[in-house]
Amino acid sequence: MPAKTVKLLPLVKEINTMAREKVLFICRECGYETYKWMGRCPSCQSWQTFQEERVLKKGPESSFTWRSAGELMPLGEIVPLEDERLRTGIGEFDRVLGGGAVPGSTVLVGGDPGIGKSTLLLQAALRLASGDYRVIYVTGEESLQQVKMRAARLNSSRNPLLVLAETEYSIIEKQILQNTPHLVILDSIQTVLKSELGTVPGSVVQIREVTASLIQLAKSRQITFFIVGHVTKDGAIAGPRMLEHMVDCVLYFEGERYQNFRILRGVKNRFGSTNEIGIFTMETRGLMEVDNPSALFLEQRPIDAAGSVVVPSMEGTRPLLVEIQALVTPSCFGGNPRRVSTGLDYNRVALIIAVLEKRLGLQLYNGDIFVNAVGGVKVLEPATDLGVSLSIASSFLDRLVLPKTMVVGEIGLTGEVRPVNRLEDRLREGLKMGFHRCIAANGNLRKGFKDNIMDITEKLDIVGVSTVAEALNLVLKG
Ligand code: TYD
Ligand code: MG
Repeated sequence: MPAKTVKLLPLVKEINTMAREKVLFICRECGYETYKWMGRCPSCQSWQTFQEERVLKKGPESSFTWRSAGELMPLGEIVPLEDERLRTGIGEFDRVLGGGAVPGSTVLVGGDPGIGKSTLLLQAALRLASGDYRVIYVTGEESLQQVKMRAARLNSSRNPLLVLAETEYSIIEKQILQNTPHLVILDSIQTVLKSELGTVPGSVVQIREVTASLIQLAKSRQITFFIVGHVTKDGAIAGPRMLEHMVDCVLYFEGERYQNFRILRGVKNRFGSTNEIGIFTMETRGLMEVDNPSALFLEQRPIDAAGSVVVPSMEGTRPLLVEIQALVTPSCFGGNPRRVSTGLDYNRVALIIAVLEKRLGLQLYNGDIFVNAVGGVKVLEPATDLGVSLSIASSFLDRLVLPKTMVVGEIGLTGEVRPVNRLEDRLREGLKMGFHRCIAANGNLRKGFKDNIMDITEKLDIVGVSTVAEALNLVLKG
């Protein structure tokens, strides 16, 4: 009966295609695969990380195999990587990379949508392309015209940069192999797919396989890759955590949505330090480097307001003056008072509050306390402890901090003030910004420290303290 056969055919076809697919559960954190859903990953022990994905049965084995297969090599005979780094010419960017990108490395740039990742990378690409480098900008999110418009906005509509609007990995790879660029920008990893894998772009399998292939391409051809990655709500790059383990550098581009400055922060760098930050402002003609970040962060500092203290903090190799603000108000509703800290380590703030209560007798237990590193910077080093404690005390007692005074020191549980590293650099930055006095730990001022920096001490008075109580008496007016 012909009618039946016709009816049956699509069904059979469907069964065939279904048979070629398999359903896998893949751990977002480490990439572990199982056929059954599990609450906890047996490989990396994280909870609730399995995600269901349909993949083709004969998908290729993971292509993460760029290492030369299993041959021993005496260390002395390994040819080192060329030390010549690829400098983007954007000083702030190069510093975060550790002095430019290493040829053959993959750099992941993550950040919230709209923060300026595409702008930053396009600016870097344009600079390099107008020099001696061949650069390909692959965009899976925008059309060629949109990239052109952005370049025009950045004043570079006539530039030899090569642009490819494509999402299929094999085509991107073909173009890269044909054109042998020095640098490839891929915007973004979540849009690229290998269609033979049969899953949607942005899935764990796609991201893992595409990244693996890119890394292989990078290492074998000495091509540098800058890859854009979107960030999830809780701050991780969307996709497997493995992505971050696979690449050589991970940079985060962050900033307050309603302010125009942006911070580029290194969180992983196989070729440099991760302490560095780069500071930019987003202008109508693209991202501008900030030469004097301390000035930016102190720009709108209130004069004559209790609760405001300036701290010379170190961000990597660079000192940065940051204003710490605190507000202590009576807790109206009884119950647990609120403790909120922004840009500071919450646990250290809690410790400092405890020290202020116990060692200085400040009755903070029934007050709401808000502490803030102004301007959206994060200052996590303990050297800011003394600043935090004085800002809280200043607000609580409603007494002003002496003008043109900065404070630096770590606080211990007995209320002692401990020395910090690189005090000289911090002092120089303070001097540059017109400060007249710095309160620091006595432990920092031993062995003729002051005699060696006469050029600073001429204009900036350094006062040593041993306890928070001493600092408080010195610094608070009235
Ligand atoms: P974009 O680089 O597209 O962000 P991302 O790639 O991280 O999603 O940046 C988008 C924002 O930047 C957008 O709100 C417009 C703004 N912008 C400027 O203010 N000036 C400029 O010159 C450019 C190109 C963008
Ligand atoms: Mg973008």
